[in-house]
Amino acid sequence: MSDEIVVKVENLHKSYSMGKVKVPALRGLSYNFKEGFTVVAGASGSGKSTLLNIVGCLDLPSEGHVYLQGNDIAEMDEAARSRLRRSHIGFIFQSFSLIPVLSVYDNTEYPILRSALSKSERKERIMRILEDVGLGEYAHRFPRELSGGQMQRVAIARALAAHPKLIIADEPTANLDSKTGEKILELLGRIQKEQGASVIIASHDGNVLERISTKLFIRDGEVCND
Ligand SMILES: Nc1ncnc2c1ncn2[C@@H]1O[C@H](COP(=O)(O)OP(=O)(O)OP(=O)(O)O)[C@@H](O)[C@H]1O
Ligand SMILES: [Mg+2]
Repeated sequence: MSDEIVVKVENLHKSYSMGKVKVPALRGLSYNFKEGFTVVAGASGSGKSTLLNIVGCLDLPSEGHVYLQGNDIAEMDEAARSRLRRSHIGFIFQSFSLIPVLSVYDNTEYPILRSALSKSERKERIMRILEDVGLGEYAHRFPRELSGGQMQRVAIARALAAHPKLIIADEPTANLDSKTGEKILELLGRIQKEQGASVIIASHDGNVLERISTKLFIRDGEVCND
């Protein structure tokens, strides 16, 4: 594995406001995410999703820096941040977040509908990705007609549509039986190697922790070294 840093986070703080009370979720977390596959591990409530949402440009830190492609995303305006997110990051949500009225094909195509690709270029790309995740035959189905593992794979396919350099997945195996979870991990590992993309996932699944060598442990919003 190369030592190239793909995301650097520095002194990240994040508090959520609950009325007048501030709930601290990250407390000065610093870490260099290297090229390859990293798992962010920690107990429920330790700040994993908060960290991934910030690294994935879905949320901003209260304090600190996130360097992605040489830019500090905390310093970018909203429009630049969402451009960077669309072109660079594929985010896989734990709840899949598929659009129920769109078919598997249309869900997967959605992130690149407004790209410069022609309709036929999009079709070629989407069908290849759906084949890759084993859903070539399911392009015309709707989310409600799929199993949990199949929905998870559509969520992955959609995250891959724009050929992102960084794939972020929040608990991608949490809703799946262990066998399906293993397949999803294998799939992410293969994509990481074949496409030279880096993958960051959050998980507290023992199976996942066993299979991935680079781990960031967090506790109470801080890096935990023991
Ligand atoms: N929108 C929010 N408003 C208020 N507090 C929040 C919000 N989101 C998260 N928190 C709090 O921030 C802390 C970190 O939450 P986070 O979701 O990052 O944890 P997590 O490690 O992803 O947990 P899990 O394993 O259960 O998904 C928790 O104490 C949580 O209650
Ligand atoms: Mg979480």
